[in-house]
This record gives sequence, structure tokens and C-alpha cells, in this order.
Amino acid sequence: MITVSAPGKIHLLGEHAVVYGKPALLATVGLRVTVTLNPAKSRTYIDTIVEKHGVITAVVESVIKKKLNITKIPPYKLEISSQIPIGSGLGSSAAVSAAYIAALLSFLKVRWNLKVINELAYEAEKAFHGNPSGGDNSTVVYGGLLWFRKESPGLKIIQPLQFSILPKLAKNFILVNTGKPQETTKQMVEMVSTKYKVQSAKLEKIFDNQEQLVKNLLLALRDGNENQLIQIIRAGERNLEAIGVVSPSVKSIIRKIEQAGGAAKICGAGGKTKATGVLLCYHSKPSAIENIAKAHNLDYFKTALGVQGLRMEN
Ligand code: PMV
Repeated sequence: MITVSAPGKIHLLGEHAVVYGKPALLATVGLRVTVTLNPAKSRTYIDTIVEKHGVITAVVESVIKKKLNITKIPPYKLEISSQIPIGSGLGSSAAVSAAYIAALLSFLKVRWNLKVINELAYEAEKAFHGNPSGGDNSTVVYGGLLWFRKESPGLKIIQPLQFSILPKLAKNFILVNTGKPQETTKQMVEMVSTKYKVQSAKLEKIFDNQEQLVKNLLLALRDGNENQLIQIIRAGERNLEAIGVVSPSVKSIIRKIEQAGGAAKICGAGGKTKATGVLLCYHSKPSAIENIAKAHNLDYFKTALGVQGLRMEN
């Protein structure tokens, strides 16, 4: 039996701008996907995730076949269980792909390391999302806090950071789930790209500002500067709104959190109709955010940020 797990991720800041060569700061979250593979007489899949991801098995097997230059994979029993909500900006597809790829390579008795898994998980992510930056898969594979920048198609800076968020700040983050967006990540990225073609100067300015905020965020998290942190999340969210990836109803929830003294932002691609996935929220008294979430009937949860990345479980 082979069992591999991988965590979900959030964008602390830099989503969308990262597609245009700007840096993003990401962190793993304490929710994991677990993939178990056993030899079997015929192929069996146990779980609901595979069904929901639809093509995941076909995509992962084709990535592996191409990499190993093989045409057949012996039958196996696949079990996937996940704590990560799907399609909500928490990197579910990256975590499933990475853990499944590692388990399948082990099943085929092929030695792997994190770099290989990350490269293959990126191939799978491309099949799902078109032209992703690669930030999601890199974060779930390497774990912790990650500085990510796509310099050019063949050159990415993937820098795991050597510090963790100080406990006095970490305890005040809450994730609020606004639900699964109607739009896919691919559609949102395309929408921004269409906008970029007609308003490139405006968007360039926003992306430049987002880059500065990402750099400042790194320092605020490292140094435990709460005031800075709140100002940066608020300003970063304003930039995401100006890009057009935050729906009116979610904007109004975020304004309430700000009026209560906190800060919140969408994480990942966002949505323009209604739900935008998970919000990263911060408040020196997190109960203030819980009350706002409750008033809107939204799920909320605390989770560790910066947990270990992909790992063998047995
Ligand atoms: O929606 P998610 O969690 O997969 O995040 C997408 C992040 C983008 O920057 C919008 C796209 C990308 O590929 O980085």
C-alpha cells in the first residue's frame, strides 16, 4: 500500500499579477488530500473527488506515461480522500495531482523527488487550467511559505521561505468560504487577459503596486507587524477589485470586515458574479470576523498556515 498526502494552499497576495511576471506569496493550509494506491486485478476508484475532478485520472496517467515513455500502467486501486473544498481557491486540483503523481510513481517503483513531482504536477495543472503560473503546485509540493515568480515561460523562481508566520499574527487569520465561484480559474484568467489587452497601462500600474505590496507583506509577516499587515491586505484587495475579480456581494462583505477593524481579500482567481471562493481574513479579535461570517451564513474556519508540503504517509 502506498499513501501520499499533500496540503492545500492560499495566495497570501500576488494572484493574477503573478501571471504577468510579478511575484506571489503563497502558504500551505492545514487541510490535506490523501491518496492511497494498492495493486489490484482491475482498476478501481474509491472516492468522490475523482468524479468531481472528472478527468483527473486520465490527465495524471497521461502525464506519467509521457514522462516514463510507457504505454500501459498496471491496474491499481485508487483511494482519494480530501479535506480541501473544491474550486474555492485552496489548490485542491494541485494537491490531488501532486499526491496522485507521487503515489503512482511509487507504485511503478520509480524513484522521485519533490522537483520531479512539481514538474509533473505542473503538467497536470496545465491540462486542467490552461496556462497556470505554477504557483499552486509549487506551494503544495514544497510546503511552508513560498515566494513564487514566473520570469519567463522556462524560468521560475520557486523560493521556499525560511521563516514561519509569528504565532501572534498566525492566530488571528480566519478563512471565510463564500462558496464555489460560477467562473472557473481559467475563465477568470482569460477575463483579466482580455482586459489587459485594452487597458494595459492601467493594469500594469496595478500589478506594479501589487508587487510592492507583496514585498512589504513578506516583511510584515516576518517582523510581526500587525498594522502593516492589515494595511497591505486592504490595499491588495483594492487592487484585486480594480482588476475586476471580486463580485459586488463579496466586496460588500469585505467592506464590513474592514469597518470592523479587520482586513480581508479573495484568494486565487476570484469570481465576478457572486461567490469568490475562500477569503483570507485578519482581525486582532477574530471573533469580529466570525460574527460577520455568521450574519452572512458563511462557513469559516481557522487553519494552520505554512504546514509541511507533499509527504509519504507510510
Ligand atoms: O484559483 P486558484 O486558487 O487556482 O488560483 C489562481 C491564481 C491565479 O494567479 C489567478 C492564476 C495562476 O495560475 O497563478
